[in-house]
Amino acid sequence: MAPIASSLLLLLSAAIAVNVCGNQVVASSEADIAALTACSSFSGSLTISGISSLTAVSLPGLQSLTGTIKIASNPHLTTLALDGLQSSTGSITLYNNTLLSIVSIPNLQTINALEIVTAPSLRQLSLANVQSINSFKVEDTGLDNSGILPWSSFQKVNDIGISNNKFLKAIDIPGLNTISGRLIVAANGLLEGKGEGASLRLSNLTSVSNCTLRHLTDLQLPSLSAVSSSLSVDETNLKLITAPQLKTVGQTLSIVSNNLLSNISFSELTSIGGALLIANNTELTSVDGFAKLKEISGVLNMRGDFSNVSFPQVSSVQGGMSVLSSSKDFDCSTLSKVKASARGKTICQAQVKSAKPTNSNSDDSLSNSAVSLMNAKKGAVWAAIGLLSGLVSYAL
Ligand SMILES: *[C@@H]1O[C@H](CO)[C@@H](O)[C@H](O)[C@H]1NC(C)=O
Ligand SMILES: *[C@@H]1O[C@H](CO)[C@@H](O)[C@H](O)[C@H]1NC(C)=O
Ligand SMILES: *[C@@H]1O[C@H](CO)[C@@H](O)[C@H](O)[C@H]1NC(C)=O
Ligand SMILES: *[C@@H]1O[C@H](CO)[C@@H](O)[C@H](O)[C@H]1NC(C)=O
Ligand SMILES: *[C@@H]1O[C@H](CO)[C@@H](O)[C@H](O)[C@H]1NC(C)=O
Ligand SMILES: *[C@@H]1O[C@H](CO)[C@@H](O)[C@H](O)[C@H]1NC(C)=O
Repeated sequence: MAPIASSLLLLLSAAIAVNVCGNQVVASSEADIAALTACSSFSGSLTISGISSLTAVSLPGLQSLTGTIKIASNPHLTTLALDGLQSSTGSITLYNNTLLSIVSIPNLQTINALEIVTAPSLRQLSLANVQSINSFKVEDTGLDNSGILPWSSFQKVNDIGISNNKFLKAIDIPGLNTISGRLIVAANGLLEGKGEGASLRLSNLTSVSNCTLRHLTDLQLPSLSAVSSSLSVDETNLKLITAPQLKTVGQTLSIVSNNLLSNISFSELTSIGGALLIANNTELTSVDGFAKLKEISGVLNMRGDFSNVSFPQVSSVQGGMSVLSSSKDFDCSTLSKVKASARGKTICQAQVKSAKPTNSNSDDSLSNSAVSLMNAKKGAVWAAIGLLSGLVSYAL
């Protein structure tokens, strides 16, 4: 009798475990979470939200996640450990856990989404074996560089956003090869809006769709050969902006408000499928780094204090041309071939005072957009990123 009873019990608990592992679970206590420790695979949805007694979530037996785990607004949570989790088609989102300081998923290789947003105490994010993530977001965390194990196996991502991490000074993902969606890196390494920013090195990256880069101190994209949508590099402290292997940009290329920039070099670039926008770069006096550029499908739009502009191979500018320089040394006749190849309205002028890059506001829309961008503080960066696209049709 006894053996039968105990195997019944076993069956029963197995049945419960199976259910729990596929359920929609909204945990209201630590016991609800403890009930999931039996799951080696979880296909349900687990929400852990607002449990103030909770200090740690640890599910060491969990190996596979096809469902979702959402952990939000647990004011005393310090640790998330999913040490057994390997491959997963599911999602993990961690929002508003103000004391969360350690996220450890050391055996994770693939996952659909991993989003860590507003975790100002986060010090350690260990993803030592991660290879691919569909959507990866690390925003508004306390991460600095000591707390990131090298993600050297990380190769593929669809969308990746790393922004508003005030202590993060260097982002280096050497194996990352393909970004099929968006790359956003902005407002890292800026304490209270001050500071220099962060360096970004993606030495193996060959292609990205949409790329928005801000507040950088160094940028290395030595292997990048195609940007299928837009590339913008704004408000950085870079002296040189270069992508030595880049051949095509599918939409807009924009380089705006980089205070120290003196050299732009895209030596292999042959076509831009949208606008080329270069504006408000204080130190930029010469733009001659587009030796092979043939075609600009949008507008060629330039504002600045440059004296020397050359596009030796440009033979088609489909969207018109608006080039205004504040310098008296600028000679528009150097662009006469470009101008002749431009469809629609063309403007080229030297000694235009309002084109001079400045920190004071002028009344044009460029300045207004730039100011709104500057005012974009914590949390607003993602929204602010859309603003620049408005500049593309500017002034024609
Ligand atoms: C995080 O907190 C902010 C502000 O308190 C709130 O607007 C947002 O909805 C919260 N997000 C989640 C996922 O709980
Ligand atoms: C970069 O790519 C090359 C060629 O695909 C590969 O051999 C190398 O291991 C990659 N580097 C890293 C750090 O993954
Ligand atoms: C600009 O940078 C490119 C690439 O590093 C370099 O080849 C070129 O000489 C630089 N131009 C100037 C004027 O410094
Ligand atoms: C413009 O560039 C050419 C060659 O790059 C150089 O010889 C010339 O001095 C430059 N002119 C000005 C005004 O900077
Ligand atoms: C130019 O850039 C500076 C800083 O990068 C910014 O303060 C200023 O508002 C910008 N000006 C315009 C006219 O966009
Ligand atoms: C790329 O980003 C810009 C700016 O956020 C946006 O307007 C555009 O729709 C994006 N393009 C794609 C293909 O996602």
